[in-house]
Amino acid sequence: VNSSASASSISDSTSPLFIAVADEIARSIRDGQLAQGDRVPSVRILSAQRNVSLSTALAALRHLEAHGHIEARPQSGYYVRSQLSKLQPLTSTKTARRPRYVNVNGLFGKLVESMGDDSLVQLSSAIPEGSWFPAQALQRSLSSVVRRRPNLLVEYGPFFGVPSLKQGIARWYAEQGCAVSPDDIVITNGCIEALNLALRAVAKAGDVIAVEAPTYFGFLQIIESLGMRALEVATDPAGGMSAKALRAALDLKSVGVVKAVMLSPTVGNPMGNTIPESRQRELLALCEQRGITIIEDDVYGDLHYGATRPPPLKTWDANNIVTLCSSFSKSLAPGLRIGWMFGGISAERLRMGKYMTSISTAAALQEAIAELLTNRGYQRHLRGLRRKCEQQVAQFSRAVERYFPQGTRMSRPEGGFVLWLDLPGDIDTVELHEQALARKVSFAPGPLFSASGQFRSALRLNCGRELTPAVLKALKDLGSLAGA
Ligand SMILES: Cc1ncc(COP(=O)(O)O)c(C=O)c1O
Repeated sequence: VNSSASASSISDSTSPLFIAVADEIARSIRDGQLAQGDRVPSVRILSAQRNVSLSTALAALRHLEAHGHIEARPQSGYYVRSQLSKLQPLTSTKTARRPRYVNVNGLFGKLVESMGDDSLVQLSSAIPEGSWFPAQALQRSLSSVVRRRPNLLVEYGPFFGVPSLKQGIARWYAEQGCAVSPDDIVITNGCIEALNLALRAVAKAGDVIAVEAPTYFGFLQIIESLGMRALEVATDPAGGMSAKALRAALDLKSVGVVKAVMLSPTVGNPMGNTIPESRQRELLALCEQRGITIIEDDVYGDLHYGATRPPPLKTWDANNIVTLCSSFSKSLAPGLRIGWMFGGISAERLRMGKYMTSISTAAALQEAIAELLTNRGYQRHLRGLRRKCEQQVAQFSRAVERYFPQGTRMSRPEGGFVLWLDLPGDIDTVELHEQALARKVSFAPGPLFSASGQFRSALRLNCGRELTPAVLKALKDLGSLAGA
């Protein structure tokens, strides 16, 4: 099974325990000790055999299921999948020879047009169904906040965020092992404002910013809009960017000075990978040595499938070279647009930037979220959301396996709700997108995720939608357009 190879490559000494347990089972399947159709040890037996907690054993089984090694049979347990995957794991990408001015906004414009079209099955934006979020709890919290404190509606509120929310966020990071003082947090309008401000604080037009290849197109759009240049660095689909690859890129004569690295170390977009802690520490040491700021996007971190999420890279940042940017847009309340940032060498510039671009962020909305952090409504909701995302990605993976052509390469996300596919043959996904629109389906074409037009045969699918018959049909249509 090809996916066995990818599962074993993501485990190293710093991966979460459940991945190591899952890896051992994947190896037994590959080596034939567990044959197709065999029953896999139950959660209880696995927990006793490997001397791990029940939740770790369960996370390992779910991880194997999400990666297509095993399948659940109702009332009966998990079994080794009988159908060998025709899908391949992704391969590593390459470093671009030079930094480039970016031009993704043209392509993005076309996508935006299709995003507003309700007649399409939208698999393009990374936005989950509204029903996955606790609208009622948010509504209760917001009503109670404005009833108690109507002045929140008629005053500007603190420029850099309300204390209760900053305390709540700091407490939540402390639970993940990352120390931050509430006073250092600046609340923003979504993660996207934080990313803009963090980048503007350390770089100017013409400067070079290193990114993973592929990378979140929002990074590229910001780099483009600020007249900066992007340097695409080789990325491996399981471990993300490595210090070795970054060092090699920095040492290229054609590259010049690199001001910042923009990364999503915990659950990247589009590949859903997490950079192992040892790699994160090496990247940090290298950037520190070369005077490069890291802008960490942690927006999917809380959607890691593990029983607990890996700490953000900022946790290991003893010399404060990392600005962490994040939001509740993917995890709790996409509609409230509440994000934040902290850390890095230019705290004062971050504050001034926030004041100059939007003065403050709606205080009532911040208070509503703060309440859900304090009463742990957020944490309870998150447990269900993580499971939901993992199941969705597993179901969409199954559908891709069924409907897409032999030789399609597919990501094995460790969190979040998107899949990255690389199609076989000579396919251009920008053209494929045009054809797909005619069949009423939309996805995000690969070149959006590149500064140099790479990934023409790749695409990203949003799995944050219930797999209704209409969505299944859309996937089937896409697969047949792709040559299945
Ligand atoms: C990696 C990443 N960062 C940031 C954002 C934007 O976050 P927000 O909606 O909070 O501005 C997205 C949204 O798709 C994203 O995928």
